[in-house]
Amino acid sequence: MKNQRLCVIFSILFGLIGSALTAAANNRNGYSSMSSSRSASTASSSQANQPRFLSRGHTYRAVVGDTLVLPCEVENIGPLVLLWRRGINVLTASNIMVTRDERIRLIGGYNLEITDLEPQDAGDYVCQISDKVNRDQVHTVEILVPPTIRAVPTSGQVQARKGGAITLECKASGNPVPSIYWTKKSGSGKSSARIGDGTILTLEKLERQQAGVYQCTADNNVGEPVTVDMRLDVLYPPEIQVEKSWIHTGEGYEAVLQCIVFADPVATVSWYQNSFLLQPTDRKITNYRGNRHDLTIRHIQPEDFGNYSCVADNSLGRSRKYMELSGRPGPAEFYSPKWGRSSDKYNLTWKIDSYPPLEEVRLLYRRVLMNDSFQQPGQWHNLILTPEHRPTTEPKTHIMSYTLKNLHPGGYYEAIVQAKNRYGWNEVGDIFQFIVANGSSDHFPEGAEVVASSKSRSKASSSLYFIDSSIVYLMIVLNVINLLSSRKVSNGNRN
Ligand SMILES: *[C@@H]1O[C@H](CO)[C@@H](O)[C@H](O)[C@H]1NC(C)=O
Ligand SMILES: *[C@@H]1O[C@H](CO)[C@@H](O)[C@H](O)[C@H]1NC(C)=O
Ligand SMILES: *[C@@H]1O[C@H](CO)[C@@H](O)[C@H](O)[C@H]1NC(C)=O
Ligand SMILES: *[C@@H]1O[C@H](CO)[C@@H](O)[C@H](O)[C@H]1NC(C)=O
Repeated sequence: MKNQRLCVIFSILFGLIGSALTAAANNRNGYSSMSSSRSASTASSSQANQPRFLSRGHTYRAVVGDTLVLPCEVENIGPLVLLWRRGINVLTASNIMVTRDERIRLIGGYNLEITDLEPQDAGDYVCQISDKVNRDQVHTVEILVPPTIRAVPTSGQVQARKGGAITLECKASGNPVPSIYWTKKSGSGKSSARIGDGTILTLEKLERQQAGVYQCTADNNVGEPVTVDMRLDVLYPPEIQVEKSWIHTGEGYEAVLQCIVFADPVATVSWYQNSFLLQPTDRKITNYRGNRHDLTIRHIQPEDFGNYSCVADNSLGRSRKYMELSGRPGPAEFYSPKWGRSSDKYNLTWKIDSYPPLEEVRLLYRRVLMNDSFQQPGQWHNLILTPEHRPTTEPKTHIMSYTLKNLHPGGYYEAIVQAKNRYGWNEVGDIFQFIVANGSSDHFPEGAEVVASSKSRSKASSSLYFIDSSIVYLMIVLNVINLLSSRKVSNGNRN
C-alpha cells in the first residue's frame, strides 16, 4: 500500500521534473506559455476536450495565522494529473498529499487550503496540469504580519547625564514594514503628542524634566499598533526650590520650613541653623514626602529665629538654599486695584503678617512724572499711621487701608509700606504702583491688561517702574494693533 503510493509519487515527480525542464527550456527559447499551449492544442486532435482553467491567477494578501484557500478549477482534466507546487516543491499530486506540512490540504476538488499562515508561506503557488505541455495557474501569496517591537536595550532602561545626549532605539518588524513614532508619557499616564518618528529618538542637552517614560509605537495597519515603554533617567546634581525664603513666625507658634529637592540619584538632605548642622529634637522635626523636605519647629522660642538652610547631596554634587525664620513683620502685600476709580483720591489697601502687635506703620508715596520718553520721580510723602486692631479670626494678619487725597488726575504713583513690631522693621517691602483716574468720564480702554508690579523691589524702584509702565504702554498698543488687524482680516474674508 505504502509502496504503491510512493511509486505514484515518484512517477509523478519524474514526469514533473521532465515537464519542468521542458518548460524552462521553452522559456529560455523565448516561448511564452501561451504560444506553447497553442502549439499543443494544434498538435492535439480533440481541441474541444482540452483541459482548461476556470479559475484565474490572483494575488492574495492574508494575515499571519489566517486560513487561505487558493482556487484551482479545471475542466476537461480527463486522465491528466493536477499538481500544486511551490517553486520546485510539489505540494499535492492529483489528490495525494506530497508535502508533509499538515497545514496544507485540498478542499472542494483541487483548491489548496493553507491554515495557520506563517510569514514563510509567502510566495508563488502554481496549480499545474501535467500534460505533454505544461499549463499552469500562478497565485501569489503575500503574508501580512502585524507589527512586533522591542526596545534597545531590551531592559528598556536608559540613563544619561543632564546636559548630555541620548538616543532611544526600538526595532520593529512586520509586513508591510511598520512605521514607528515616539511619545512621552505624562504624569497622568496619558501619552503626549508625537515627539519623533523612526527607529531612533535622539534627545540632546537633556533637562531633568525630560526624564520619564517614552513610548515607541509601531504600526503597519495590520492588526493593532504595538507599543514598548522605555524609561529614561536623567542624572543631575541636586536642585532645590524654596517657596518662601523668609518665614514670619511668633513665639509660641509653630513654623514649617520647606525645601523641594530635585535630584537623580536621590539626594540626602540635611538642615542647618546659622551654619550649624541641625540636630532634630522633639521640637524640631525633619520630615519628607517625595521630594518635599520639611523642618517643623514647634513652640518657637527666641533662639529659634535665624538663618536656616537645607543642603542636598548626591554623587553628582551639592546644593544649598537659605531661608530666614523671623519674628519681624512680613512685607506689605497690596491688593487695591492698579487703576483708581476717583480722579483725586486713591484708597490704598494692604495686609501685613505679624504675630506681635504692630508698633508703627509708615506709608510712603510719590508721584512719578512720565511720558513715553521721560520719567521723573517726585518727592516721597511720608505718613505715620496708627496700626489698626487686627481681626481675632486671623491672629497674624493685619489688614489696613488709607485713602490718599489731593492726587493728580491721571497721575502715576508708587507706594511703600513699612511696619515695625517688637522684633524690628519688616522685610524690605515691595513697591506698589497705581494710576489715578483721569477725569470723571474717563474710562480705561477695554482689553488693556494691567501688569502686576508688586514684585519689583524698592531698591531698584525707578528703573523697574519704567520697565513696568512701558510694558503697560506696549500692551495697550498691541491690543489696538490686534483689534485693527483682526478687523482687517475679517473684512478681507468677507471680500
Ligand atoms: C543666610 O546666611 C547666608 C550665609 O551667610 C547668606 O548668604 C544668606 O543671604 C542668608 N540668608 C538669609 C535669608 O538671611
Ligand atoms: C478702602 O478699601 C477697603 C478694602 O476694599 C475698604 O474696606 C475700605 O472701607 C475702603 N476705604 C474707604 C475710605 O473707602
Ligand atoms: C515728556 O515730558 C517732558 C517733560 O514734561 C517733555 O519735555 C517732553 O516733550 C515730553 N515728551 C513727549 C513725547 O510727550
Ligand atoms: C485725560 O484724558 C484726556 C482725553 O481723554 C486727555 O486729553 C488728557 O491729556 C488726559 N489728562 C491726563 C492728565 O492724562
